[in-house]
Amino acid sequence: MTQNLRLGVNIDHVATIRNARGGLHPDPLRAAQLAAQAGADGITAHLREDRRHIGDEDIERLIHEIDLPLNLEMAATQEMLAIALRHRPHAACLVPERREERTTEGGLDVAAQESVLQPTVAALRDAGIRVSLFIAPERAQIEAAKRLEAPVVELHTGACCEAWLVSPGGAQWQMELDRLRAAAALAEELGLECHAGHGLTFDTVQPVAAIREVRELNIGHFLIGEAIFSGLDSAVQRMRAMMNEARAARTA
Ligand code: PXP
Repeated sequence: MTQNLRLGVNIDHVATIRNARGGLHPDPLRAAQLAAQAGADGITAHLREDRRHIGDEDIERLIHEIDLPLNLEMAATQEMLAIALRHRPHAACLVPERREERTTEGGLDVAAQESVLQPTVAALRDAGIRVSLFIAPERAQIEAAKRLEAPVVELHTGACCEAWLVSPGGAQWQMELDRLRAAAALAEELGLECHAGHGLTFDTVQPVAAIREVRELNIGHFLIGEAIFSGLDSAVQRMRAMMNEARAARTA
């Protein structure tokens, strides 16, 4: 870990490629090992209800065979809670999940579902699992996370990254970045640890990494895609180096 900013590598899409043929290759566990050697501080995996990428056996192997902390992304369902309590990963990130979505499209509406989420957050916390809530960078969501006594919020960077694609560095991008900055400051003010992720690339990572209050970035799809061209170790190393550079420039 450098400059207090951890990199969690999400390996879901290694499993997506494996599952396209139904065999064992490429193995997400091997990707996790490579990511660890290349500078990842943690491994993130999303066990979806439909098991479209990561499967139950992957979680079992990641828990037992990888030295890095596992951040299990999960929907707040009874099934996923039972799995989390059985494996006790280092962290569990609660995410919204809809079968028809291609990826986690929005943040969890914690403000609207406080009482529904409360038992899941409490059960995970009581089991010693660090609970994180994946939310839009909005005041109401952060305040609701605080009331739920979740120690961590992960800010959804999807809108910010989409704005970059529409107009790199443009007004919408600047506005979304400002929203992230304000949300991260509020999270810290309320005593919540702040993480961020979704859609980050080499183009977008540095301004987000430069936000002082952000302590962890979770990055998956871009790194696994980039690995096709440069190898996973090179992609992770470069992302790590860019994060370090952004952090160092901030404190220089
Ligand atoms: N953080 C959370 C909570 C996510 O659900 C995802 C996507 O699974 C990511 C980070 C990583 O997003 P991406 O794969 O776009 O880098």
